[in-house]
Amino acid sequence: MASSVAKSLTERMGHKMDLGLAGATVVVQGGTQGMGRAAAECFAADGAKVAVLARTRADLDKTVVHLLERGATDAVGLRADITRPDEVTAAFDQVRDRWGELNILVNATGPNVGGGFEDLTDADWFAAVDLGVLGMVRCVRAALPLMRSADWGRIVNISAHSTKRQTASLTAYTAAKAMVTSITKNLSLSLAKDEILVNTVSPGSFASEGLARWATGVDIDPDDLYAVMRGIKEHFGHPAHLPRAGATSEIGPVIAFVASRRNTYMTGANVNVDGGSDFC
Ligand SMILES: NC(=O)c1ccc[n+]([C@@H]2O[C@H](COP(=O)([O-])OP(=O)(O)OC[C@H]3O[C@@H](n4cnc5c(N)ncnc54)[C@H](OP(=O)(O)O)[C@@H]3O)[C@@H](O)[C@H]2O)c1
Repeated sequence: MASSVAKSLTERMGHKMDLGLAGATVVVQGGTQGMGRAAAECFAADGAKVAVLARTRADLDKTVVHLLERGATDAVGLRADITRPDEVTAAFDQVRDRWGELNILVNATGPNVGGGFEDLTDADWFAAVDLGVLGMVRCVRAALPLMRSADWGRIVNISAHSTKRQTASLTAYTAAKAMVTSITKNLSLSLAKDEILVNTVSPGSFASEGLARWATGVDIDPDDLYAVMRGIKEHFGHPAHLPRAGATSEIGPVIAFVASRRNTYMTGANVNVDGGSDFC
């Protein structure tokens, strides 16, 4: 039933949103899977030029074909590991050479460091910050000159709802996400003079490939969104008000709107997309 929920949501919603993005230039870091890919599909359907950045060449190639089929007016796969500053610089150099400017940057990659406070080594903490925080910082730094060359700019950083409802077994992950939210707020202030709008989108539980790996590991069918939410309640104690996890097709359009020209006055905001909670 649940996989049919996700499928029918995608079919019902489609990806076309009329966000005024025809010809806009977009980089989605972490855009080959999960929520990043769902957002990239929305940009493509609106006629944007979309670059996806990730480490796996085969996934990049597949995603580029998919985005062109969806309606992207150009698509390119940027192979880079965001923990490698030289690779990030080279990726954005490709964007400069191809488009000369950049309107939208979405930073979707998150740290994959689990463990409670007493389990974590210094190396774990450094890894969480390197991938989950500095990865975003490096991409923003490389993107800014290109965004300043464009008529308008938007940055969306993906944080997590867990910054508001703590989970003891996600200490470093959550701390890194809190840093992302804080840096985003700070950037919204410093980039306001350039009219570059900078916002955070904070997901609850979404059945991405990343969450599917966790679900499979604890013997839950990742396609059953109701079973996934029951597992979230059991393992993390934080069910959403809705009785199921989200499909990535339900958050892609939110990310795309916040990153679009239709968003003209929201900056420094943290947008929860979490199926309902007591936090706002
Ligand atoms: N899923 C959830 O329920 C949930 C809940 C709250 C917050 N979040 C956050 O939401 C964001 C998206 O999560 P998701 O679950 O949709 O993602 P995901 O399915 O885990 O996909 C991660 C993407 O990032 C890329 N990536 C990973 N490491 C990278 C690196 N070192 N350099 C460059 N690219 C890298 C991956 O491609 P390669 O492996 O090929 O590099 C892939 O495209 C993350 O920030 C996550 O922390 C997720």
